[in-house]
Amino acid sequence: MAFTSAAASFAQTTTPAPVASANVAASQTAPGTLTVQADQPGPVINRDIFGQFAEHLGTGIYGGVWVGKDSKIPNVRGVRSDVVGALKAIKVPVVRWPGGCFADEYHWRNGIGPASKRKVTVNSVWAGAVEPNTFGTHEFMDFAEQIGSDAYVSVNMGSGTVQEAAEWMEYMTAVPPATAAKERAANGRKAPYKVKYLGLGNEMWGCGGPNTPDEYVTKMKGFAHFVHNFNPEQAAPKVDFSLIAKDLMSGKPMDSLPSGPNSMMRIAAGPNSADPSYTEVIMKAWKTRSPIYWDINGISLHQYTWGSMPFNELATGFAEKDYATVLMQTTWMERSVKKHKEIMDKYDPKKHVALVVDEWGVWLKPKAGTEQMFLQQDQSLRDGIAAAMNINIFARHADRVRMTNIAQMVNVLQAMIVTEGPKMVLAPTYHVYKMYVPFQDATFLPITFNAGEYKVGNITLPQVDAIAAKGKDGKVWLSLTNLDPNKSAEFTAVVAGVTASSAAGEVLTAERIDSINTFETPRAVTPKPISFTAADGKLVFSLPPKSVTVVRLEP
Ligand code: AHR
Repeated sequence: MAFTSAAASFAQTTTPAPVASANVAASQTAPGTLTVQADQPGPVINRDIFGQFAEHLGTGIYGGVWVGKDSKIPNVRGVRSDVVGALKAIKVPVVRWPGGCFADEYHWRNGIGPASKRKVTVNSVWAGAVEPNTFGTHEFMDFAEQIGSDAYVSVNMGSGTVQEAAEWMEYMTAVPPATAAKERAANGRKAPYKVKYLGLGNEMWGCGGPNTPDEYVTKMKGFAHFVHNFNPEQAAPKVDFSLIAKDLMSGKPMDSLPSGPNSMMRIAAGPNSADPSYTEVIMKAWKTRSPIYWDINGISLHQYTWGSMPFNELATGFAEKDYATVLMQTTWMERSVKKHKEIMDKYDPKKHVALVVDEWGVWLKPKAGTEQMFLQQDQSLRDGIAAAMNINIFARHADRVRMTNIAQMVNVLQAMIVTEGPKMVLAPTYHVYKMYVPFQDATFLPITFNAGEYKVGNITLPQVDAIAAKGKDGKVWLSLTNLDPNKSAEFTAVVAGVTASSAAGEVLTAERIDSINTFETPRAVTPKPISFTAADGKLVFSLPPKSVTVVRLEP
């Protein structure tokens, strides 16, 4: 059950945090000079780092995404239009579905065919809610297409079989004359769907099992081998027999089989927070595999930020110490990423296998008056700041971290969007995602700066967190987060190889660290325009307290 696995995650994350992050030099004071190495480009920040997660949990799907064709809430084929419009604006690259813990209890056949004939089942993971199965494969794929996103489908490795998973993928991707393609067409979809990512179970050490790492690897190989994607547009180039023969004879398996630009990527269910056991065992098995029999392209990592007590950290009305605790725990993501990267580098120095953080976010005390297992929480400016810090960590490790999926998309945990009946409001995290759009597929640029210190009680954090990238527009973009709720921070920006005379963009801040957007006050935490102009050849940034600033440098 999710609660058990969540508690297990907490146990992994209660050791003290590092003070400052990777390429940020902490010292006594900001301000200082921020140098962008625009002449030393790093890896591409894969746009899938900005992915989302939508689970059948509470009102995450029913009410939040799906209202049904007959609803008075404006919708297209049952998917609510206001939510689609908002998600299109943040250019969601990929969405993970149907879970989470739900995935390992989901039987896809319940969710196809005429709506009136679909089985009604019980969502035993999440509060025993009624699962009408009216949102199934076709509805999810339609939703993903409406928002312009790729699909990341997690198959049931918990209570399902290899055969069930293989048949689901065949149903989604086969072409005529396969019977599965005809059945799909009879249900309204002729062309095969594109499934960019295939999730091989979820939290297999917890709600998806529990399995030891070895037990998981044994099962996973079967799913990785037999679940085929038949969409011709996702086909891999044919493998030359001589390659296979060489592989079999050599005793030294080849790195990987040739893949096409749209080949489906298989993501193994990986570690819980900083626990290395799954990563070690999966990567060891991967290293010695023969890719003609099974392969994976990623390992997932789940890491939530709980605050001082799992499920009990206040969402609003918290003290500055609690604010700092949540931000401190956010920095632990970097420690985990580094730890898993180290193991992966040992077995896979060429970085074939990505680290996929497919569940992360701030997990707080549920909103009063709501079903506790629906995981609805208020979201404040603090959580938007935590989102920016996490994204910065992912960008700094973009060589290995090539997809992440924030938990979750609508109404659940650190959701982008909150709905209630026909009403919709955008959370601070939504605005951070919108501000970061230029970082999608941008090239990471190393930076050095004096991060300063922000101290509360025995917690010391860098005052400022920042990243830089060269956008697809060819411009240099900076994201600068000032964690300190009491002091502004000033920087002089120096960009190697670029003369910047001004910078313009947006800043997200609010009156209080716990300011939230509500249906009544939807704009309490919204970005405002900000710009800086060089004087005497110097471009000086002044970052307001508790803020996230994203700017584009202009020559
Ligand atoms: O995101 C909520 C739950 O958290 C997911 O279902 C599960 O994978 C994790 O424990």
